[in-house]
Amino acid sequence: MDKFVVRGGNPLLGTIKISGAKNSALPCMAAAILTEDEVILENVPQVRDIETERRLLESMGAEVELGYGRAQHRTRIKCAVLSDPVAKYEIVKTMRASSLVLGPLIARTGIARVAMPGGCAIGGRPIDLHIKGLEAMGATITQEHGYLEARADRLKGAHIVFDKITVTGTEDLLMAAVLAEGETLFENCAREPEVTDLAALLIAMGANITGAGTSTIRVVGTQKLHGARHRINPDRIEAGTFLIAGAITGGDLNIDGCNPSHLGSVLAKLDQCGVRLDIGDESVRVRSGGELRATDVLTEEYPGFPTDMQAQYMALATQTDGITVVTENIFENRFMHVQELNRMGANISVSGRTATVRGRYPLQSAAVMCSDLRASASLVLAALVADGETILDRVYHLDRGYERFEEKLRGVGAQIRRMGEVFGKK
Ligand code: UD1
Repeated sequence: MDKFVVRGGNPLLGTIKISGAKNSALPCMAAAILTEDEVILENVPQVRDIETERRLLESMGAEVELGYGRAQHRTRIKCAVLSDPVAKYEIVKTMRASSLVLGPLIARTGIARVAMPGGCAIGGRPIDLHIKGLEAMGATITQEHGYLEARADRLKGAHIVFDKITVTGTEDLLMAAVLAEGETLFENCAREPEVTDLAALLIAMGANITGAGTSTIRVVGTQKLHGARHRINPDRIEAGTFLIAGAITGGDLNIDGCNPSHLGSVLAKLDQCGVRLDIGDESVRVRSGGELRATDVLTEEYPGFPTDMQAQYMALATQTDGITVVTENIFENRFMHVQELNRMGANISVSGRTATVRGRYPLQSAAVMCSDLRASASLVLAALVADGETILDRVYHLDRGYERFEEKLRGVGAQIRRMGEVFGKK
């Protein structure tokens, strides 16, 4: 199992280029199920979850080529025949986003068998809203031996009001609705940029969708979709993570190739902390050197502060002046990084959904364990300012969603390597 070794203390200086968003690429790859034609995706990040999705689609009979036409980040998918519309447990157990194939599979083939998802261990993470929506569209769903089986001759348009805002739930049902008979009206939808990105691809494939990016989406179903070419959005969570890397180390970083309009709540929060930000069209320069102020944060659905940035923000909060209250509203049990940060010398206490961080405790190196994707990033950020050499175990969690994380950090002066490498050697 890979480990990272991080020696703290260097301010990060230079430019980091942002990759495509994993959370956009995953639903867009699933959308290729909806057509027999070729779907070409540009700017797909090379991360473990994308590789898992490739295996998932291939196991159903799809052709998937990552790095198509010698372009590292281009992916070609062709689902001419889906001989085995099953998402097997062996493949999906590491990735909850596998539930994203449920909607497109049933829409395209009339049947889907999908293993109940695994993924990050952050709370219960049910998929009842996906199921409820598909049932409203006429699917019959049964559950047996850890698999969901959904059947429908042809899905029918419906009026679906989400009980709770769900990102992949919105995406999954959107992909079901585009091939359904008649009109579907969705209310209380997720407004995340990843939903908008997926809708842009579906529209390029011939779907009739209005309102993506708002809480009400209207879809007029169509008989058939065709192939398309689509460029994935930059990863706003990767950008946010590196913004905090610049801020926490007192560095001067240019976060390039991002979309600042997707980062509104994160930029506002950093600004309140006293981080200096210069916002360009596709880049943000982050500088800090002076004292940072403690600023409370609540996670919310987009455009609120993302739960996927909560752990990284908490690492920053350990170094700000004063007390920060962090409230996690989206997931239960998403504070697993707290005990590891405390082992590094932070002073954080948790009560229910709230963590209270007492700032400016100097961090020290320790052996720490990554528990999920964003918690791993938080521990790396803490290690960048810790005294001495921190060893992070189980970095496979981080590899699920960050492309060449340690290389990007090394490029701006961080001392970080995978166990086995030698400092300074790429
Ligand atoms: C997506 C992101 C994840 C991010 C999360 C919230 C992907 C691949 N993953 O996850 O990185 O942290 O959005 O921004 O895009 N819920 C239900 N029933 C359901 C579905 C969800 O109760 O059927 C609940 C969840 O338990 C959670 C909340 O709704 O409390 C939000 O979850 P959801 O938006 O669905 O998260 P994901 O789409 O899984």
